[in-house]
Amino acid sequence: MKKLNVNYIKNMKKINEPITAITSYDYPFAQLADQADIDIILVGDSGGMVKLGYENTIPTTMEEMLTMCKSVSRATQRAFIIADMPFLSYQTSEIDAVKNAGRFIKEGGADAVKLEGGQEYSKTVRSIVKAGIPVMGHIGLKPQTAKLWKGYTIQGNDLESAKEIIEDASSLEHSGAFSIVLEMVTTEVSEIITNNISIPTIGIGSGPHCNGQILVINDMLGLSQGTIPKFVKKYNDLNKHISESLISYKDDVIKKQFPSDDNCFRMEKSEFMKLKNHLHSYKNMEELK
Ligand code: KIV
Repeated sequence: MKKLNVNYIKNMKKINEPITAITSYDYPFAQLADQADIDIILVGDSGGMVKLGYENTIPTTMEEMLTMCKSVSRATQRAFIIADMPFLSYQTSEIDAVKNAGRFIKEGGADAVKLEGGQEYSKTVRSIVKAGIPVMGHIGLKPQTAKLWKGYTIQGNDLESAKEIIEDASSLEHSGAFSIVLEMVTTEVSEIITNNISIPTIGIGSGPHCNGQILVINDMLGLSQGTIPKFVKKYNDLNKHISESLISYKDDVIKKQFPSDDNCFRMEKSEFMKLKNHLHSYKNMEELK
């Protein structure tokens, strides 16, 4: 199976082939995503929330991201792996950004990194690309800082915010990013961006005109508890299946219906007879001790 690379992903836009992307944070889900021929696996910092239980993505650390990234890269043969740079792993300096991006490639086995931000990070993107590491931008809703500013709201629904996102996209393209995630951007603005830049846009809650789509795997499989965003389509209800299975297992153990003969290992009858005879030779079980 041929491993996908940046050129392949960029070319998909040229030939108008939709790009499929999904987040994954561990070996089993990455293996399934790869076997489903999903093009991009993003080791998102959303893993800090859906895997590690943080309230938002802010606390997620480099070490936690690296652990998730390593397990994903061990599981993946075809998909292009992008590692999300966590909060404060690239904002502090361009040197920190290059060093941390490099760790994802050298230690994590990622093929590229993603960072949140547009024009304000053009120098950072340039530095990472100059070091030979492909960068995906992420604009519109930026979860790492959304809570600290306007909250989790729709982006690009008035002239000012639309202009800012369009300029962010153009700046990322000119800084050398190979692709851009558009999160919760109005359909109109993502269509304008997609039609006016040469690199692929990957949408999450940003309408059908993007060159590709991404969802958080836990949300689309029905593994998230509580409310999920309107833009998520739930393809399964795994929480229900898993809960039902756990309750059945508990019932079986309590009622002594598990393990059944099928789940046990039995001695050969002849060996068992020998053992029984042997046990008779002891006067009492104390001798066994
Ligand atoms: O961390 C993440 O899951 C992401 C996606 C929402 C694109 O950045």
